[in-house]
Amino acid sequence: MKFVILLVVASIAMCLGEDKYSDEYDSVDLDEVLNNKRLYANYISCILGKGKCSADAKYLKETIPDALQTGCTKCSEVQKKRVGKMLKFVKENHSDDYSSLLEKYDPEGQYKDLYKDLVA
Ligand SMILES: *[C@@H]1O[C@H](CO)[C@@H](O)[C@H](O)[C@H]1NC(C)=O
Repeated sequence: MKFVILLVVASIAMCLGEDKYSDEYDSVDLDEVLNNKRLYANYISCILGKGKCSADAKYLKETIPDALQTGCTKCSEVQKKRVGKMLKFVKENHSDDYSSLLEKYDPEGQYKDLYKDLVA
């Protein structure tokens, strides 16, 4: 009986530990996406819900609302850095897209503190 309880506790702990976003797309070359006009346009139109999505852009799009709600607690350090870099790039080089992103994902500005740190 003790063993069964231990097993249950262990598997719950494991589940919690694994409550992270997939690292499947961590290897996508972010610089290439950001600096290639066509790739960038595809990415942003997917995330803004205006166009077709590649697999990695789709994952990002589906993850954004959850990441905002959970304060990016399921993000790895690598992913936080990547998101920060991406946001910074969009904010500085495509400020109109940045406004559209905020309008879509944070219309009331309730998550400002969360991405302020990432962009800083
Ligand atoms: C803006 O774009 C230029 C040229 O692609 C790039 O070198 C620069 O790093 C970008 N800015 C940010 C904040 O990423």
